[in-house]
Formats: sequence, structure tokens, C-alpha cells
Amino acid sequence: MGAEVVVEGLTKSFGNQAIWRDVTLTLPPGEVSVMLGPSGTGKSVFLKSMIGLLKPDRGRCVINGVDIVTCSEAKLYEVRKLFGVLFQDGALFGSMNLYDNVAFPLREHTRKSEAEIKRIVLDKLELTGLQGAERKLPGEISGGMRKRAGLARALVLDPEIILCDEPDSGLDPVRTAYLSQLLIDLNAQIDATILIVTHNINLARTVPDNLGMLFRKELVMFGPREVLLTSDEPVVAQFLNGRRLGPIGMSEEKDAAQIAQEEAHAAAGHSDGSSEEDLRGVVPQLEPTPGLPERMAVRRRKDRVMQILHSLPPAAQQGIIESLTHDELLRYGLTAPRPRPAEVDDTQEIPAWPGGRP
Ligand SMILES: Nc1ncnc2c1ncn2[C@@H]1O[C@H](COP(=O)(O)OP(=O)(O)OP(=O)(O)O)[C@@H](O)[C@H]1O
Ligand SMILES: [Mg+2]
Repeated sequence: MGAEVVVEGLTKSFGNQAIWRDVTLTLPPGEVSVMLGPSGTGKSVFLKSMIGLLKPDRGRCVINGVDIVTCSEAKLYEVRKLFGVLFQDGALFGSMNLYDNVAFPLREHTRKSEAEIKRIVLDKLELTGLQGAERKLPGEISGGMRKRAGLARALVLDPEIILCDEPDSGLDPVRTAYLSQLLIDLNAQIDATILIVTHNINLARTVPDNLGMLFRKELVMFGPREVLLTSDEPVVAQFLNGRRLGPIGMSEEKDAAQIAQEEAHAAAGHSDGSSEEDLRGVVPQLEPTPGLPERMAVRRRKDRVMQILHSLPPAAQQGIIESLTHDELLRYGLTAPRPRPAEVDDTQEIPAWPGGRP
């Protein structure tokens, strides 16, 4: 199972430019999480801070008991081996062909023979749909192929934690759908802890177990997918619907007067050009391709989320309960067992809502 990542009070600035402050979240082991946020809110900086490439001003980021903010260089080097990272720009070496790019971490960090390296590299290239492209240079392939090569390289060391910075940017909608499925399949196969930064609403709605959002130099929310997917928080709702109407502006956040003016404009029946359909709500999560193992994180997550169910907003509680099967409802004590027919005439299930009906 992948490692847990515990982030506490993490704060980062460059000179006098504050990027985000007091970010606290836990990536549960083996679960898939997505971080959303408008451009420039520091998502890439957050990923880089998690692997110690950037040094936060304050706070902790603890992996397997090691706080990578304060640990020694030697420890950091060890911890980094747990990570597979897909950087936003792919970060491939331009002068190396795809095979050598993907083989690089193996040659750098392991003592594997070239025969073993070949087996692993070809396996990862096939997994990411790049078989046959081994001899191509990064400059000779499409942006989408470069992304996938970056992902193949992130996977060669069997990472316990995978960080993907906008794996879908530059991909067409069909490839993005394949990529979403690939991430879920990967999680089913290796049970790694995965954090994905993305602007893709569809990926955010269908892939992760947990969703978070950075905005206004803060982590606005982080929690089970159902919480953000049903949220009334204006920033979250605006982002998940891809609307202009809301607190997020083109270059920065809008001021209160501008928001009020736009709301009045919309209330008067003017469209902002985006779809009128409200995309909020819990949609089914992607499942692994038939034939692959089940995602072990699913059961673990259910147990985890059911423990905190009472603390979640009513709409999220409802979304979670509605996604449970009859057996699961029984297991979590949410449905009275069907009474034996001899005793009663009515075999209706009686849901018992914890903490009052949502
Ligand atoms: N090494 C650095 N030195 C100084 N400032 C930096 C550095 N890296 C990032 N920044 C600044 O930090 C802010 C956040 O950048 P970051 O790349 O994390 O945004 P992002 O949320 O990933 O945006 P996008 O969605 O466009 O990728 C930006 O204002 C950027 O200029
Ligand atoms: Mg970025």
C-alpha cells in the first residue's frame, strides 16, 4: 500500500510574495486525490514542496515518519525514492530518446542490469501506450506523447506516491478520458497514493477519492470527493462548473463590487456563455478496466469516510450513502436487517441516518 502523506500548516512565500499559508491535509494511503485551483495559486509549488524541491517557510510534510521540511539531505534523498513525479512540462531530457529518458531513474537509483531495465522500460512504455516510440526524441513527438512518456518515467521505480502536475494539459478529450482510466487502472495495480493537479473538470469529477482546492493563498477545502462535488462554496462551485460567474476572475480574484455587479447581470437573465447545466452532484467514480484487480483503496476509503460521515455536510452525507450497496448499508449499520417474513408483513428497509436525516 502507498505511503500516507501528512501535511500540516505548510506555508510558502517567495520573498515578500505569499503563495499559500497554513495548508493542512492528509493524503490517505493508496487513495487518489485531485487538487484544483485557478492558474497561479501555487499548485505546482505545492507539489514541488512535497518532494523537497522547494523549501516551505513553515509547517511539516511527514512521509513514513520523516518530516521532509526539516530532515537531512541524506534522508530527503531516501524519501524521494518513494515518489514518482510527472512534472507540468514533462521535464524530459531533450537529447535522450524516450527509452533512455524512461530508463534514467533506474540507471541513476538502482543497480539493475540493462536486461532488467529493458523489461521495466518496455513495460511502462506499453502501459502508457508508447510502444514503438522508444527511439524517438522528445522534440519529435506530440505534447500528449511527451506527457505519457513523463508518466512512464514517473512509474519505473514502483513509486508509493505519485504526483502528477496537469497530466491532461495539451491532451484532446479522448486522450484525457484514456488518461483518467489509466490513472485508475494504475492505482488498482500498484495501490500507490496519487495526487493529481488538474484543471480538467471531468477528470476531477470521475477519478479521485478526495478533492481539494487552493484559492486566495489558502486551501479552501480538502476532503472526500462527495464533499466538494456537492459544495455550495462559491469558489468550488464556480470552478467545477467552469463558469465566469463567481469569485474567480481572469487574472486574479474579483472584488466584491464586481461579483455583485455580475450576479445582478446574471439575475437579469444574461448568460455568461458557459453551460446553464449545473455540474454539481456526485457522479459515479471510474472503476478499473475489467480484468484488473479491484482498487483496494475503495474499501479502505469507505471505512474511513463512514467514520467521519456525521461531520460532513448533509448533501455530502447523502451522496455517500446513496453510493453504498445494500450489503454496505448493512455493514455500516445504516439499514435494519430485513426482518424475517414470518414476523412482519412489510419487508421495507429502514434507513437509520446517523446524526439525523441529511
Ligand atoms: N521558483 C520560483 N521563484 C519565485 N516565484 C515562483 C517560483 N515558482 C513559482 N513561483 C510563483 O509562484 C506562484 C505560483 O506558481 P505555480 O506554478 O505553483 O502556479 P500553479 O497553480 O501551478 O499555476 P498553473 O495552473 O498555471 O500551472 C506564481 O506567481 C509563480 O510566479
Ligand atoms: Mg502549475
